Amino acid sequence: MLRLTENQIRFFKMNGYLVLREALDQRLCAEACDRLWDDPPPSFKKDDPDTWVGPIKEEEENPDGSNHKRSFRWQYRKIGDEPFMIDMLPGAMNGIAHQLLGRDRFKPIERVRGIYCTLPYGPDAERKPVSTHCDGHPFSFGCVAYIDEVPPDGGGFTVWPRSHRTFWRDFHSRYRAEYGPFYKDHAATFASDHVYDQTYGNAGDVVLWHHRLGHMASHNYSRQIRKAVLCDYVLKDVDILEEEPPGNDMWVDWSEEVRDVSGWE
Ligand SMILES: [Fe+2]
Repeated sequence: MLRLTENQIRFFKMNGYLVLREALDQRLCAEACDRLWDDPPPSFKKDDPDTWVGPIKEEEENPDGSNHKRSFRWQYRKIGDEPFMIDMLPGAMNGIAHQLLGRDRFKPIERVRGIYCTLPYGPDAERKPVSTHCDGHPFSFGCVAYIDEVPPDGGGFTVWPRSHRTFWRDFHSRYRAEYGPFYKDHAATFASDHVYDQTYGNAGDVVLWHHRLGHMASHNYSRQIRKAVLCDYVLKDVDILEEEPPGNDMWVDWSEEVRDVSGWE
């Protein structure tokens, strides 16, 4: 079972994210990549990358959330509760979740979000500006798992290191999306500072990220479809905790092991 070292926990506390290399079973990643082709946009050919360039043709869009296809996004959610998907991601991450949040303090994950794709922008695509945001739904940390190679500039999850320490205080609630007066300005400043880390990697790599970390789903200038499987860990008593304000200790709801790691300031 995977476990984090003290230094990895320190990095996570300091920066709000952590990239784990080769954390997932390669066979399960390959199976997920294969299943993506159950029901693709009709003009997409599995072995021809030239057919994968977005946006999805209007007549091939699908508004149905179970296999949503529109513009440069293709979200194959239907398989999110299949046992192999649960084995692949939460199955590999549960030990770390126990370590970070405390034994049995989080809701068991019975469904992941499915395979989230960002289509290639094409060879002539103009570079687009970056922006950052925090997510609005209540959770403690998220996982972005790559099930295929994601090259640099290939739509990898982009994070603003250390921004969780600012954004933590920018909400009225510890978990809910109740934005305070400084959130927007801080988000704009982080985006314009351009101090971000665009993650990339190989099948089986996982990005763990704190729920108040600034991030974006970045642009895909590669020739590949960016394929990521996502899930979020949520505390069982989040309904009670979200009534609380952020407070001075941003690790108050985390495990003793996390709280004991010093030297992250
Ligand atoms: Fe987001």
